[in-house]
Amino acid sequence: PSAASDTGPWPKAELHLHIEGTLEPELAFALAERNGVTLPYATEDELRRAYSFADLQSFLNLYYALMAVLRTEDDFADLADAYLARAKEQGVRHAEIFFDPQAHTARGVPVGTVVDGLARALDRAQETYGISTRLIMCFLRDESAESALATFEAARPHLHRIAAVGLDSAEVGHPPAKFKEVFALAREAGLKCVAHAGEEGPAAYVWEALDVLGVDRIDHGVRCMEDERLVARLAAEQVPLTVCPLSNVRLRVIDDLADHPLPAMLDAGLLVTVNSDDPAYFGGYADDNFTAVRDALGFDAETLRTLARNSFRASFLDEATRERYL
Ligand code: HPA
Ligand code: ZN
Repeated sequence: PSAASDTGPWPKAELHLHIEGTLEPELAFALAERNGVTLPYATEDELRRAYSFADLQSFLNLYYALMAVLRTEDDFADLADAYLARAKEQGVRHAEIFFDPQAHTARGVPVGTVVDGLARALDRAQETYGISTRLIMCFLRDESAESALATFEAARPHLHRIAAVGLDSAEVGHPPAKFKEVFALAREAGLKCVAHAGEEGPAAYVWEALDVLGVDRIDHGVRCMEDERLVARLAAEQVPLTVCPLSNVRLRVIDDLADHPLPAMLDAGLLVTVNSDDPAYFGGYADDNFTAVRDALGFDAETLRTLARNSFRASFLDEATRERYL
């Protein structure tokens, strides 16, 4: 039987979602028009046809290029509001949302414009959509440690709106340890810490994210399965892993959804969650990922319920609020 066909999608938290990765072609063209930006694609269909990726870098090239349309506070508010409206339809009750300040400051958009715009939409999300939210500020790991430090200092006036720092962009060749100092500063400022690790990069990067950066969660982490000792540690410490099944297939981290390690990860006792990563690019929002793994991996209602509960257990919600969802 369909997992939640009678009751709508499972109530869930989304913990791995890049707000810039929710930029749908329709909104990209609308913002391009509003801001007088020319896109290198004539139509929405032509743009959509570019969404065929060989690996993480080929996706990132398009992801960063399309961001050129995001310029004003209104743009960031509209982007976040469009995501929240979709998320509500997908059963999302809590969203911890990544943003990439350096991808905007590099284009002359101040970090305050980005945060104020996003915060305007997020501040209304509970009332408008019944979704609680957190913001996670990510550093681009293919930029320098100095650039990350400068970004953190520029964001200091806005830290009251930011729950955690993260680490994303091109993984291979950019191990977590490079960002030890900025993560230490974030921790001192009372922020939580997460990092992408073990997506395209090796299991060794997951160890480093835990031991050198002291992260509270690992984003992706699927390659941990190549290291038995690491799996044992992640299970023992119940370190959450924010897995993104449709992303893994689109970026060719996994050949076929039917071969996804998610069942093995659950069997190993890992605290795994299912998330959409960059839904405008990877063919599905939060519940689309739940439905896809149900169909491809044969997950029963009990397993889907576990994944939904895990999403709240792994969240940065306070204990009392988390309990209400479990
Ligand atoms: N991996 C790394 N960096 C990213 C991703 C991803 O899946 N999406 C947006 N930035
Ligand atoms: Zn990601």
